[in-house]
Amino acid sequence: MMLNLNFHPFPELKTKRLLLRQVLPTDAENVMRIRGNEEAMRYIPRPRAKTMEDALGVIEMLTNGINEGKSINWAISNIENPSEIYGIMGYVNFYPELSKAEIGYMLHPDYWGKGYVPEGILLVEKFGFEQINLQIIEAKIDPRNDNSRKILQRNHYQFDRLVYKEMTFQEEELNSEYYIKHKQ
Ligand SMILES: CC(C)(COP(=O)(O)OP(=O)(O)OC[C@H]1O[C@@H](n2cnc3c(N)ncnc32)[C@H](O)[C@@H]1OP(=O)(O)O)[C@@H](O)C(=O)NCCC(=O)NCCS
Repeated sequence: MMLNLNFHPFPELKTKRLLLRQVLPTDAENVMRIRGNEEAMRYIPRPRAKTMEDALGVIEMLTNGINEGKSINWAISNIENPSEIYGIMGYVNFYPELSKAEIGYMLHPDYWGKGYVPEGILLVEKFGFEQINLQIIEAKIDPRNDNSRKILQRNHYQFDRLVYKEMTFQEEELNSEYYIKHKQ
């Protein structure tokens, strides 16, 4: 089945505590806090957002991805106060010919350990399998990222492969572990 990559109107998702909504230019300050945080970015091989311009650039990239059907990311926000965002999660890459997407998620460290990503991932997966028509969700982690591996294992992702020295980022050679989950 073809993937449905039309995200208009933007699909908001709700859990008990969270509103997953589009990331907007008005979120730039929060995006700078999250994408600029050293601890949060430790195992994410992307340049850190240091300025409001950087943050607006990230938001523009996320928006273009949605508009072009290349990716979809949600702001993980407080359902009681949606201007407070804890992090960002979504599908960072689609492989339409494989009916597959790569999932990604991150929170500002102030919000770690509260089960927010485990709560959001269930809805993001449901949306992916049922609305986008994905057959496979893939996740790629740095092998040192134990917190992220825990999320995947608890959500019944299977280890698929280790890619040794997959890329170089800031002069460091990085290995990647891939995990996958099939539609039930
Ligand atoms: C990976 C991540 C999304 C987990 O989300 P979360 O909502 O905090 O998940 P949980 O609440 O289930 O906590 C997972 C684990 O994080 C660890 N953790 C919790 N609070 C922590 C803290 N303040 N400092 C360090 N580790 C902490 C715990 O080991 C916890 O496991 P436990 O349930 O056995 O105690 C989050 O740690 C994060 O944003 N990390 C940085 C970004 C990143 O690496 N993203 C993944 C890229 S592939």
